[in-house]
Parts: sequence; C-alpha cells; structure tokens
Amino acid sequence: MAETDGRLYGRHRSHSLSQRQQALYESLLPRLRIDCAKAAPNDLGKLFASPKSDVWLEIGFGAGEHLAWQAQQQPDIGIIGCEPYINGVAKLLSQIELDGLQNIRIFDDDARLLFDWLPDASIGRVFLLFSDPWPKKRHRKRRFVTLVTLDQLARIMRPDAQLRVASDVGDFVRTTLLAIQSHDDFHWLNNGPSDWRSRPSDWPETRYEQKAIGAGRTPVYLSFARQ
Ligand SMILES: C[S@@+](CC[C@H](N)C(=O)[O-])C[C@H]1O[C@@H](n2cnc3c(N)ncnc32)[C@H](O)[C@@H]1O
Repeated sequence: MAETDGRLYGRHRSHSLSQRQQALYESLLPRLRIDCAKAAPNDLGKLFASPKSDVWLEIGFGAGEHLAWQAQQQPDIGIIGCEPYINGVAKLLSQIELDGLQNIRIFDDDARLLFDWLPDASIGRVFLLFSDPWPKKRHRKRRFVTLVTLDQLARIMRPDAQLRVASDVGDFVRTTLLAIQSHDDFHWLNNGPSDWRSRPSDWPETRYEQKAIGAGRTPVYLSFARQ
C-alpha cells in the first residue's frame, strides 16, 4: 500500500490581496522564489546574497510570523519557507519588506516538490509547525509525516540537524511520534514532560497556535535529531 495518497497542494488563495500585497507578489516574490528548473547550488548558502553559516527549512509557514522571527534573530542563517497558500505568502512578503529581511527564500508550492531538488545533507533545521492534521480517518494518509517524507527529510538534513514539530491534535502527535521513532535516522530529543509541554525560547508562537490555545487546545512541541 502506498505511504501517502500522493495528493499535492497547489497554490490557492482565500481572498484577494491588497494592492500593496499584489505589488509585492509581482515584484518581490519573483526575486525570492526558488526556481527548481535550475539546478540547486552544491552550497545552498549561495541562494542568498551574503554567505550563510547554515540553511533552515520551514514547511507550511502559514502567515510566516515564525519564519520572519527566526530570520530576524539569525541573519547569518538562510531560511527557505514553503507555503502554497497565496495569502500567507503575501503576508510574509509584507513582513520581509517591512523588516528588510535579506535571508529568506520562498517556495510557494507543496514542500514535497522541493525535496528532490535539495542536495544531500544541505539543511540544518526543519520546522513543521501545526501541519494540517487531517482528522478524518479516511484522510490520514494526507498527513505530512509519513515514512516517505521522513526518508526524504533524512536525506536532505545533515547529521545532528533538528526537526521541530508542533501540533495541538493528539492523534497527529501520536502518529508522528510513532512514525519518527520507528525511523532509524531520527531520535526524539526528550528530556521529560516539561520538554514537550513548553515552547523553547527560540521558538516563537505562530498564528495557528494562538488560535488553538484560544480554543482551549494544548499544543505539544517536539524536537528530533537527525542521527
Ligand atoms: C494549519 S496551517 C499552520 C500554519 C503555520 N505553520 C502556523 O502554525 O500558523 C498549515 C499550513 O501548512 C500548509 N501546507 C499544507 N500542506 C503543505 C505542503 N505539502 N507543503 C507546504 N505547505 C503545506 C498549508 O497551506 C497551511 O498554511
């Protein structure tokens, strides 16, 4: 049986962009967008204007507030953000312009389309924060964490790279932990319950997380290491 139903997420929007967002979408995005038609540089840091000590990847950045925060805190690190939701990409573009961020590249499509393009052991940290939980049983195969995506992540992540996952959906957390713990290339960095109940200080709150907490749900924060 296939590991995933293979469904890919095309670009989509929920409402029209403001004039400013539309202008940034047309002028700034083409400069930041990763073009998979061109071969990836062996040193991914070359995607950025100035040298970078590492490159991180955020999958499904939503409105991009976590990504923009990380980029601001770590100007010597390049961050690639993947998000097919056009309104989310537009919000991140506004933040990039507002803060003058120079260390972000965008893949505005399904992250899985980027995986084959990325060189082996090229990514030092991966964020998967509040990934779509697909709560219905018949949709569970659409969840992002599968043995197939874990194999792909294991290839592109360097040894000791971190994979950070957050979720407010118990069943998503359970299946993610089971999948990752059964995968030989990852181990859970778990130093007791306070570890996964509280968000580390270098991990800012996301928009979805605020909504989840407001609705009375309790997020779980998991960090794994690529061995
Ligand atoms: C529940 S939202 C969470 C957004 C954000 N991380 C946050 O915490 O606010 C999940 C996001 O993942 C994006 N997403 C879903 N599947 C994806 C994929 N295969 N590649 C990239 N992004 C994806 C969705 O478009 C959506 O914006």
